[in-house]
Amino acid sequence: MTERSAFVVVANRLPVDEVSTGDDREWRRSPGGLVTALHPVLAAHRGTWVGWSGGAGPAPEPFDLEGIHLHPIPLSTEELERYYEGQSNATIWPLYHDAVEPPMFRRRWRESYRQVNARFADAAAQVAEDGATVWVQDYQLQLVPAMLRERRPDLRIGFFLHIPFPPIELFMQMPQRAEILRGLLGADLVGFQQRLAAQNFVRLARHLLGLRYEGQTIEVDGRRVKAGAFPISIDVAEMEEMSTSPAVQARAKQIRAELGDPETVILGVDRLDYTKGIELRLKAFRELLADGKLTVPEAVMVQVATPSRERVEHYQALRVKVEREVGRINGEFGRVGVPAVHYLHQSYSRSELAAMYCAADVMMVTPLRDGMNLVAKEYVAARADNGGALVLSEFAGAATELRQAFLCNPHDPDGVKEALLRAVEVSPTEARRRIRIMQRHLRTHDVDHWARSFLNELGVPDVK
Ligand code: ADP
Ligand code: F6P
Repeated sequence: MTERSAFVVVANRLPVDEVSTGDDREWRRSPGGLVTALHPVLAAHRGTWVGWSGGAGPAPEPFDLEGIHLHPIPLSTEELERYYEGQSNATIWPLYHDAVEPPMFRRRWRESYRQVNARFADAAAQVAEDGATVWVQDYQLQLVPAMLRERRPDLRIGFFLHIPFPPIELFMQMPQRAEILRGLLGADLVGFQQRLAAQNFVRLARHLLGLRYEGQTIEVDGRRVKAGAFPISIDVAEMEEMSTSPAVQARAKQIRAELGDPETVILGVDRLDYTKGIELRLKAFRELLADGKLTVPEAVMVQVATPSRERVEHYQALRVKVEREVGRINGEFGRVGVPAVHYLHQSYSRSELAAMYCAADVMMVTPLRDGMNLVAKEYVAARADNGGALVLSEFAGAATELRQAFLCNPHDPDGVKEALLRAVEVSPTEARRRIRIMQRHLRTHDVDHWARSFLNELGVPDVK
């Protein structure tokens, strides 16, 4: 008999990592703000998390971990290629990020997306008890709310989109546009990172389906669907605690020493994704070196680029371009034993990332478009010493909140160079003033605040 829950989270991935122990499968809770924020709510409501556990083929049986019931969904090799790499990450991802790379449209990817969404909806319908709340996450599962409502009209359904929601003109390119919009409208509350995204959504409902809306509430099939902005955040207390620990402080010093104790360490930390603006940031650094405004070894750059979606064409092409640019900069400006750019195509532990944040004088976060960008918030929270300066693209969701960053338009190379130079040259007093204001904001707007605001708006009882 399946265990049923009053609160169910449905997300593409389960919040667990597999740790290999010989023949046995063992699981560890993965680090991350979303699971940290939802953990208390899940634990208090005998909650279940429905998601893919990674890998192709049969899924493990449902299991419990740290008070959460985990319900794995299988994906076949073909579904990984069509639903995950194809429709999710080669169609929807680029289209929703302002088509900074051209979205690819394939009929068989759409069909697979539909089938996998139905599988997630079936599982959620199975594990949710009568009148339960189900919170569906992100662009991989936009059809789930309507599919779930059809199966279980008694449920309270929320949906949160972690990435941008595009303007009408772009959304209209999607062959599956009406189906996706109807999928989202199956929810009672549809949450976005930005107010503008919520506006795009309600206007689209009128434009595409002729639905009436008032403010942010759309009328559909005699129901009222609310849209709203709920900017996501990080576990601020955890980052503050980690970054002030003696071990992380010592590691930060060691990193600087390993870099040759330069005057200025410039840092970038991203998934290797074309939305992140990694190339334009490298180019800004190269041009400042060429102009003589910055010099090696006084200034060095560290670019961490986590491997991501490596079988998708756009990502393969990006890796080639970024690595070529790193090679070019090091060839022109490096010296024996002193590269200008330290490029790390690897994943790191949370504490190693915290040490890098503490070691960096300037953090560059320059996406062409980004739903939020948690890395920017992590850097600010990690600087309990009130040092450091953040260069931030106006096109990151975080720019709405982190107004004291050195903001720049990533499409304007001179603007990026100017922001970087201002951040490098800022006085310690001014840097402290800016970072403190941003830290004050984050302390009251952490990931727990995000989850509570959304669930309160959805009308979930007992969420304090
Ligand atoms: P996205 O969700 O598009 O990847 P965000 O900046 O919102 O972008 O979130 C990225 C998350 O991944 C952050 O929490 C960040 O700390 C983590 N991360 C980024 N790079 C690495 C890395 N090399 N190793 C481990 N974690 C990383
Ligand atoms: O920000 C969107 C997002 O899907 C996150 O939810 C996720 O952590 C990240 O991108 C990585 O994506 P993937 O699950 O494809 O590795």
